[in-house]
Amino acid sequence: MERTYLANVQGAAVNSEINVCGWIQELRALKNIVFIVLRDNTGTVQVTLKPDNISNINEVRELERESVICVTGVIPERTKSTSNREIVASRLVILNRAEKPLPLGITDPVSADFETRLNNRFLDLRKRENALVFRIESSMLWGMRRFFHSNNFVEIHTPKIVAAATEGGADLFGVRYFEKEAYLNQSPQLYKEIMMSAGLDRVFEVGPAFRAEQHNTVRHLNEFTSVDIEMSFADHHDAMHMLENSIRAGIERTLDELGPEIASSGIKMEIPEVPFPRISYRECIAFLKTRGVDVTFGEDFSPEQLREIGSQYSGFYFITGWPSSLRAFYTMPSAEDPEISNSFDLQYNEKEITSGAQRVHDPELLTKRFLSKGLNPDDFDFYIRAFRYGMPPHAGFGLGLERLVMILCNLQNIREATLFPRDRTRIVP
Ligand code: 4AD
Ligand code: MG
Repeated sequence: MERTYLANVQGAAVNSEINVCGWIQELRALKNIVFIVLRDNTGTVQVTLKPDNISNINEVRELERESVICVTGVIPERTKSTSNREIVASRLVILNRAEKPLPLGITDPVSADFETRLNNRFLDLRKRENALVFRIESSMLWGMRRFFHSNNFVEIHTPKIVAAATEGGADLFGVRYFEKEAYLNQSPQLYKEIMMSAGLDRVFEVGPAFRAEQHNTVRHLNEFTSVDIEMSFADHHDAMHMLENSIRAGIERTLDELGPEIASSGIKMEIPEVPFPRISYRECIAFLKTRGVDVTFGEDFSPEQLREIGSQYSGFYFITGWPSSLRAFYTMPSAEDPEISNSFDLQYNEKEITSGAQRVHDPELLTKRFLSKGLNPDDFDFYIRAFRYGMPPHAGFGLGLERLVMILCNLQNIREATLFPRDRTRIVP
């Protein structure tokens, strides 16, 4: 018989037989009746078992919480009018017995410490509110993917084992690759740009990115999911336009799918207005000076300075026109003012969610940029070659998916938005 999800039990016909499956959240065994609160990923239902109907009732009495069962039964007439879903069982199949004690309670009101939660993610995510974060991530990404597809982007997959750094040499993980040394990719940057020379016109990729960041913070992971786009015959304004509209489309999709559950979980999620405000790096410096913060052109903003800026410009906003000296070699300097670049970060309050830019498409300028950053162009020959035989102007961005989910769900620690976080000390599970 087909399985009915517990959320649909209330809608099923009275007295007709249904089949439900899930975990035993609670079990109360009385002399002449056994009550089970059964849970699946959609909700809970009460199952009533009478010894006369159930041949294995004595085994059922001994089951530990979180054991997995399937129940066949009917919805009695009496519960139809109430909101309490109930099934009177005619058959119960034990599929898997849980051991005791549970390393983590599912219904316990006291929340476990975060380490215990991460060490027992399979139990932690049986709590609906914890799993909601990943449902939101899934809906968000689906909305963004749909947006990219409807704007003629092609989804691509580029190698994660690579020979060159993209975002600076310090944060690279080395790997042994037979007799050569290789690295885990920090970003699909170089490969997505090569696809512009290949004529794919617009590409996006959702994939892992690896950064050997030494510092353990609530915003950094050593492996994160990067949502990248690259588009041809485009500049940083076009990339910002795609970014804000893809985020809006993602949030629309998320609210469509999960709106009521998000609202009842206490998360405040609203469709943001586009376009997002654009504030230039120079304007940020001027603003910080009015707040008595001493910052000189060419310096990156400290977390404290970003908090100060975030207190003035809340929600989503872009910081544009970063100094060329602060941005990676591939970033296009501004034609009007070469001190600054055609680059942007998307911020949410004080947090950076995305970096993006128009890229250098002229191979001569690119070679100069490598040299000015102290890099050897020969190490990037496979990349520069793609610029020598017809490379269109192009632009794009890289967005940290966990950071986006973190701000959407108002989480304090990026690890909460990561199934199995990789950080300075954690590689298991
Ligand atoms: O700012 P990043 O380093 O920029 C790039 O990778 C460029 N290739 C993007 C481009 O197209 N120009 O990384 C992009 C985003 C950051 O804004 C942040 O959201 C996320 O990736 N990110 C991290 N998220 C979690 N942990 C880390 N260690 C992260 N490093 C970057
Ligand atoms: Mg950045």
